[in-house]
Amino acid sequence: MADNIILIGFMGVGKGRCARELAARTGRFTVDTDDLIETMVKMKIRTIFQEHGEPGFREMEQQAADWLEYHVSGTVVSSGGGFFMVKNLNRLGRVVYLHSSVEEILAAIRSHPKAKKKIKKRPLLQDPAQTEKLFNDRLPQYRRAADIEISVQNREIVDVVEEIIDRLRS
Ligand code: S3P
Repeated sequence: MADNIILIGFMGVGKGRCARELAARTGRFTVDTDDLIETMVKMKIRTIFQEHGEPGFREMEQQAADWLEYHVSGTVVSSGGGFFMVKNLNRLGRVVYLHSSVEEILAAIRSHPKAKKKIKKRPLLQDPAQTEKLFNDRLPQYRRAADIEISVQNREIVDVVEEIIDRLRS
């Protein structure tokens, strides 16, 4: 198996920040699946949803997963919130689910200095009731997909990363 670490979890939980810290701590590179897709099709995620719909975007996520499976190793992969649904997820590396409550996630996004931008670029974050439903639907799926679950709620990123390193070692 490729020696990658795949971070999955809900939008806004901090997968990107955690991936960068984890990469720095373990001497790896990091890639983000949304960035891969945006460069592959030269379109922003929001435009992809507008022009190709969510099913089109999910196909692109699968393409990104196929590329990762054959071309990437020794890397920390931060993924879009729905990336865990790709068929080959567990062939990409060890899968780590970053967990926080939906209330905490939404509060963190809303209090961010760039809150407006953060919400605007995420098509599935437009309606709070829908977002909460999506979180509740996905929670058991994230847990089933992951090798390990790590809570990020009210924790410093360095602690989270320490725990990931420890738990992946054992
Ligand atoms: C999505 C999450 C987003 C992005 C797209 C769809 C989802 O990524 O892939 O808007 O289905 O949860 P982030 O989790 O990085 O926000």
